[in-house]
Amino acid sequence: MMEAIRFEHVDVLFGPEPEKGLALLDEGADKDKIYQETENIVAVHDASLSVNRGDISVLMGLSGSGKSSLLRCINGLNKVNRGRMLIRDNGSMVDLSTCGKKVLHQIRTERISMVFQQFALMPWRTVWENVSFGLELSGVPRKKREELIRTNLELVKLEEWADKYPSELSGGMQQRVGLARALATDADILLMDEPFSALDPLIREHLQDELLMLQKNLRKTIVFVSHDLDEALKLGNQVSIMESGRIVQTGSGENILLNPANDYVRQFVASMNPLKVLNCNALMRPVTELSVEPSRDAGIVLDEDRGIVGRVDIDGCLEQVACDGAIYKMVELNDVNDMKTLSANTIVTGTPETSMRDAVEINHHSGHPMPVLSEDNRLIGVVGREEILGGIVRDS
Ligand SMILES: Nc1ncnc2c1ncn2[C@@H]1O[C@H](COP(=O)(O)OP(=O)(O)OP(=O)(O)O)[C@@H](O)[C@H]1O
Ligand SMILES: [Mg+2]
Repeated sequence: MMEAIRFEHVDVLFGPEPEKGLALLDEGADKDKIYQETENIVAVHDASLSVNRGDISVLMGLSGSGKSSLLRCINGLNKVNRGRMLIRDNGSMVDLSTCGKKVLHQIRTERISMVFQQFALMPWRTVWENVSFGLELSGVPRKKREELIRTNLELVKLEEWADKYPSELSGGMQQRVGLARALATDADILLMDEPFSALDPLIREHLQDELLMLQKNLRKTIVFVSHDLDEALKLGNQVSIMESGRIVQTGSGENILLNPANDYVRQFVASMNPLKVLNCNALMRPVTELSVEPSRDAGIVLDEDRGIVGRVDIDGCLEQVACDGAIYKMVELNDVNDMKTLSANTIVTGTPETSMRDAVEINHHSGHPMPVLSEDNRLIGVVGREEILGGIVRDS
């Protein structure tokens, strides 16, 4: 893992004399008091964060929590009043406040590009010309420019629309132009400030999928701002939750879902849709917690109430699932074509990556728990009705 971006105890204040605001902050004054006494708005306070190269790091939080303010420090749109903002450049981490104008300019213009919340397209320029804009600014020669524009319009599937004006495009398409424009530059760092928030849910999910797909090949370092935990967990390798200018928790999606740091995070977690983000790794009851049934040659009990028992071989691989002597047919989830046709004598097996949505559907249609198997077919856990309910309430 190589670090690409690092915030160290960053404070961002807006107002006439930020030093006075900082002094009050150190005395422990709250934001309201600081504003009343100094007219400074504390937008970010003591934010520390490290983003690895090739990762998508999401900043999440309510409106006004400081997400954009923090993001905009990365490309210098906001000034860091205290603390350090570092970016990897030529093999070492460079402090943007001390690196000198030339390096700073080069980092901002060549290394970083940004996609804004409001598409920020130029209405008097065509789609093609909009994508071209950043490349013109950084002096890319015409031939190379044309090639880049074409590739990136293809990437977002807008090659047919090159000659249209933004007003002739839907919101989703305009946002894709913004994406193409940001991708067309050579920048290895992509800043995205709620790029999909203004779009309706279906288009939004589609663009999220598209971004994830593009990222597989691009491997850019992306810092993505969102106020939606579903989106944050879907996109982010790492999610940071901001509350009132502070980062209150940073972790993997699973870490945030399972161990929310405070009530604020817990509220976000409670309001999200678990079907979309939980997988069986988080849901399952691990095999170590399942009881063994001594009476019939040491079966592992998969469903206590109905007496469904799994038998494993010496390596722990699941060989057979049975109930009162009747043996079920076992199929892998991947081999199930249509869940609706699952019969009652079939047990479907999943993996730790199987989504909660699939686990719910299997349970609904087959009525049976789903054994969770490792890559080498070892039984590692089970997801039944109880585990699914646990996933829905998530406090248990
Ligand atoms: N240019 C500015 N001048 C003065 N105050 C600002 C400026 N930008 C942000 N603020 C203030 O800083 C605080 C954090 O704002 P910020 O825009 O970073 O929040 P946000 O989390 O991005 O919110 P949203 O989800 O609404 O975009 C707010 O109180 C805001 O009013
Ligand atoms: Mg914002």
